[in-house]
Amino acid sequence: MSSGILALSYLLGSISFIMGLKMLSHPDTARKGNLYAAMGMTLAIVATIFLYKDSDGNPLGNYAWIFTGLAIGTVLGNYAAKKVAMTAMPQMVSLFNGMGGACAAIISIVEFNHLIHMGKTFSDEPVMALVILAGLVIGTISFTGSMIAFGKLNGNINDKVLPGQQFINIGLMLVIVVLAVVMVGGYSTMDPTLLMYCILGVSVLYGVLFVMPIGGADMPVVISLLNSFTGIAAAFGGFLYDNSVMLTGGILVGSAGTVLTVLMCNAMNRSLVNVIVGSFGGGSTGGPTSASGGTYKEVSLTDAAVLMLYSKKVIIVPGYGLAVAQAQHICHELEKVLDHNGVEVKYAIHPVAGRMPGHMNVLLAEADVSYDKLMDMEEINPEFAHTDVVLVLGANDVVNPAAKSDPNSPIYGMPILDVEDASHVIVNKRSMKPGYAGIENELFFRPKTSMLFGDAKDALTKLVAEIKNMA
Ligand code: TAP
Repeated sequence: MSSGILALSYLLGSISFIMGLKMLSHPDTARKGNLYAAMGMTLAIVATIFLYKDSDGNPLGNYAWIFTGLAIGTVLGNYAAKKVAMTAMPQMVSLFNGMGGACAAIISIVEFNHLIHMGKTFSDEPVMALVILAGLVIGTISFTGSMIAFGKLNGNINDKVLPGQQFINIGLMLVIVVLAVVMVGGYSTMDPTLLMYCILGVSVLYGVLFVMPIGGADMPVVISLLNSFTGIAAAFGGFLYDNSVMLTGGILVGSAGTVLTVLMCNAMNRSLVNVIVGSFGGGSTGGPTSASGGTYKEVSLTDAAVLMLYSKKVIIVPGYGLAVAQAQHICHELEKVLDHNGVEVKYAIHPVAGRMPGHMNVLLAEADVSYDKLMDMEEINPEFAHTDVVLVLGANDVVNPAAKSDPNSPIYGMPILDVEDASHVIVNKRSMKPGYAGIENELFFRPKTSMLFGDAKDALTKLVAEIKNMA
């Protein structure tokens, strides 16, 4: 009876994950989707704790440990999620993702010890052995890689490229494969526990060295790749425990992460193979590249207001600085004022603008900007040539023409928003400092570009007031 209810709970949990994931694809339903998936997870956890029985009919037990762990996790997770600033969200996602990887690796270690205590070797149970090792290696790489990604996004760790980095990474991967074959095939007399810890150690090193050299603008691909690693590692855990809801959850995270990785690769114009061997972005060690040496011009608030008010069409390009300034609401206000005065306004959304996938969509949805006004890069790029004014708000790398024209630039080849095709480009930021990739932006020195210096929220508040006065 209880096993039937457990199976039903797992089925309901799996359905809620799928529904939740589907709902996450649109800002209107995303919040509810997240809630559905969380409810499914809660159901699966509670059902496992109270209804699971092993093959001898024994319940799970260890309740004090389980509830202590649950209590600590709930308090910490709740506190962190409530406290985190929107701009620090990507770091937190990396941290949480790393925890998932660590859990999967720990499950593998526990199951390995279980096997050894039953007096079995890996060669007695080759399928089980492969699943244990796959979970261990992928989970560990996901954990250490995510911790390095966390440090980089948080500004604590700089890019570091070792000489021959690609070969070191490929070499480490080969060492892992060879050790795994030796272990599963029973080709060594070495203590299996020691062999397992060797594999763990090399995986830790690989995770660190794999993410360490990834240059400035290229982090999005790695973050989504690590995400899919955690999902795959969790799916192996589900396989080990013959737990269908864990398997489904892992597969969903793994496949969604993989799809996102491919989309990110396309957006950055990079190949996945380059990412995996860690050569990707190598050489982009931050620090401004060659300065254009040109001069830039500034625009006053009044002139900017006139230009925009008497335009037929204005395109707003939001970037990370808009999130930093929390200027999404006043940005929406600007759109409404212009719209009210007969100016057509659209938003150009670059796939890697901000610091996490969909960052700009989430930010603007928070301010109730209509989803119809958000245009993807491919859709909006041909429109810039027929646009009077482009207002770049705290964006930098995603509008850097060096991606098209400078083969030495670390972002060369990345598709960008063709803002320089418009009649006027107004760039709002606080200084001439570079963006995330650490490179100078030639756009700021182009004849059609004018700089509107200041914090985005402050500048937009004054701009809206100015336009309202004129209209
Ligand atoms: P960035 O290139 O990072 O530029 C943001 C600009 O905003 C900065 O140049 C900064 O200039 C300005 N800024 C900061 N605070 C501001 C404020 N309060 N008011 C006005 N401006 C402000 O941003 P982007 O164009 O959105 O590009 C995103 C970058 O992050 C890409 O390189 C991307 O690859 C990388 N990345 C993306 C992701 C994902 S998944 N989206 C993840 C990791 C990394 P000032 O300091 O002069 O104000």
